[in-house]
Amino acid sequence: MTTDTETPKPLGERKERIATDFTRVARGYDLLCALNPGYIRHLGMSANRLKLAGDASVLDLCCGTGLSTAALRKSYPGVSITGLDASAGMLAVARNKKNLSDVTWIEGDGMNPAAAGATGPYDGILMAYGIRNMVDPDLCLTRLHELLKPGGSLCLHEYSVADSRRSQWTWKLVTSTIVIPLGLVFTGTTSIYRYLRESVLEFDGVAALEERLKRAGFIDVRTEPMDGWQRGIVHSFLARRAEQ
Ligand SMILES: C[S@@+](CC[C@H](N)C(=O)[O-])C[C@H]1O[C@@H](n2cnc3c(N)ncnc32)[C@H](O)[C@@H]1O
Repeated sequence: MTTDTETPKPLGERKERIATDFTRVARGYDLLCALNPGYIRHLGMSANRLKLAGDASVLDLCCGTGLSTAALRKSYPGVSITGLDASAGMLAVARNKKNLSDVTWIEGDGMNPAAAGATGPYDGILMAYGIRNMVDPDLCLTRLHELLKPGGSLCLHEYSVADSRRSQWTWKLVTSTIVIPLGLVFTGTTSIYRYLRESVLEFDGVAALEERLKRAGFIDVRTEPMDGWQRGIVHSFLARRAEQ
């Protein structure tokens, strides 16, 4: 059941088998997220920050069990939504949600959404807790830029603590004392939660991720904060594809 006795693998190798790891915890995922104060509301803040029109088409990349998809649906009742994730188990939970019955679900690799059938072009892309898990974030962002319509918007909803010692300290405290122990109780494994802790500590700071977005061709790159304990830890990284 648990992989906790395995020798920890380098993060790069872990990313390649992450879909399987998420399938293991899929059934307890929503409950654990509900216990995290602000998790759902913050997804709503990022969804709103996309500022989509009522008839837009939007891709929820790395949609998981559909919590980010539900945030999009709540913010934009009339838009057409495609949700893509690599984990069959996470998608199975999403597909069962009655309020998301009109969503197009695709199982595939977020590194190349078009190859999986998410060809767009889209007015907006939300990627919540996804970019950190990509094996080549620069290539992924270049492809997302290509998938957007001219003028389209991207929001990366993601942890980023590298620029702040205080944020790193808070993150270490919260993951050690709450996230990893609760993960064990609700899902029977700590492997993915230890990966979460380490991958966030190794991930880009705010300035570095903004630079990646600019290198991929995005304009109007900016970062907006969350509130609560996630202030300085979770952010909306916002960017647009130029009109021409
Ligand atoms: C932390 S969950 C976030 C789910 C959802 N966006 C949310 O906010 O609750 C991360 C998701 O990314 C997916 N994922 C990780 N790497 C992926 C990849 N290369 N391609 C597609 N999905 C991936 C996992 O399967 C998992 O469902």
